[in-house]
Amino acid sequence: MRDIFDRIRENKGPLGKWASQAEGYFVFPKLEGHISNRMKFQGKEVITWSINDYLGMANLPEVIKADADAAAAHGAAYPMGARMMSGHTDFHEQLQQELAAFVNKEAAYLLNFGYQGIMSAIDALVSKDDIIVYDVDAHACIIDGVRLHMGKRFTFKHNDVESLEKNLERATKMAEQTGGGILVISEGVFGMRGEQGKLKEIVELKKKFNFRLLVDDAHGFGTLGKTGAGAGEEQGVQDDIDVYFATFAKSMAGIGAFLAADQEIIDYLKYNLRSQMFAKSLPMIYVKGGLKRLELLKTKPELKAKLWENVNALQNGLKDAGFDIGTTTSCVTPVYLKGSIPEAMALVKDLRENYGIFCSIVVYPVIPKGLILLRLIPTATHTMEDIEITLKAFSSIRERLENGTYKRLSAAVSKAMGE
Ligand SMILES: Cc1ncc(COP(=O)(O)O)c(C=O)c1O
Repeated sequence: MRDIFDRIRENKGPLGKWASQAEGYFVFPKLEGHISNRMKFQGKEVITWSINDYLGMANLPEVIKADADAAAAHGAAYPMGARMMSGHTDFHEQLQQELAAFVNKEAAYLLNFGYQGIMSAIDALVSKDDIIVYDVDAHACIIDGVRLHMGKRFTFKHNDVESLEKNLERATKMAEQTGGGILVISEGVFGMRGEQGKLKEIVELKKKFNFRLLVDDAHGFGTLGKTGAGAGEEQGVQDDIDVYFATFAKSMAGIGAFLAADQEIIDYLKYNLRSQMFAKSLPMIYVKGGLKRLELLKTKPELKAKLWENVNALQNGLKDAGFDIGTTTSCVTPVYLKGSIPEAMALVKDLRENYGIFCSIVVYPVIPKGLILLRLIPTATHTMEDIEITLKAFSSIRERLENGTYKRLSAAVSKAMGE
């Protein structure tokens, strides 16, 4: 018999194996200072393009005051216990009602973290006879939620409606045998590549198939749609999303999340979401802080307008300079370059050290081998100067990538990695 720790010592996992080369720099970097367009990394100022504070809420004086007032009034703990037992307040209810109204649903329920919350929602929405059909590129929290499902599940090709249709045909046949139903899961915006989920087309399939639709709109909430109600509003199909999910971790610059749906569905979820029934309620800082953020979302449309001014300037600037930014239809701005992992590491180091630009980097196995994805998240706090500096830096690093500079620099990295 083996000690389970032996395997852990031998195999640190797909990301963990890079720890000795990457930790503190490419992973677990420490950004310091107030959350904004400029922060400090290893003592030097950088333009930050890797924080999902889309609307720049994190650092608004009204928001900081609301959080501080809530902390002064309640401390960080109140209310204690799960919602069902002792962790319930008028303010939790108020935030739910306001969120529901904002995303145009009958009711909403707060979640203390989006990740666990959506996992539990998937778990609660289906029984073993039901079939889940979900986008193959869905966020880890959806994949983990599907893992809890005891029945059948099918993936459809990423944002491919034809593939969804084929899988719905299979799922329908299967559901007829099991006596169950079908849950389709997609995202409002896919956070790596920035494409909106094809919600309109998915909803269209409801005419042909019988299913319910759950949408994770983490990146769409606050950034898309006329009022900021998200990808469903943007695509004119909010009413056809049966269960809507968004987190406070992005546009709302907080912690927590919510589900919104018809009253009877929320009433059911309230009594069946295991991650909420058996976990501490969201503290007041996030509830009262959430009410303030939502108020600003509703009353300060200039935040979203500024965000989009920056998104358009950045994305158009990159396209005009000949960069491949893929098929994004949201604020998420990917830049695709060709190169190896060691080249990518040398390039990112150059960007940070010599150009003062901090962005996230994604490589194989998240994207195909030989591709480098630099992911930029514009926010309302960025300035045109930040964008100009970044565009110049990107042209310069592309030149260095193409003339082999990073290949040479990365030879040392490869050697260190034993490649
Ligand atoms: C698409 C998506 N869904 C869910 C989550 C999880 O939300 P939370 O951070 O509230 O746990 C994230 C990350 O924040 C996300 O990007």
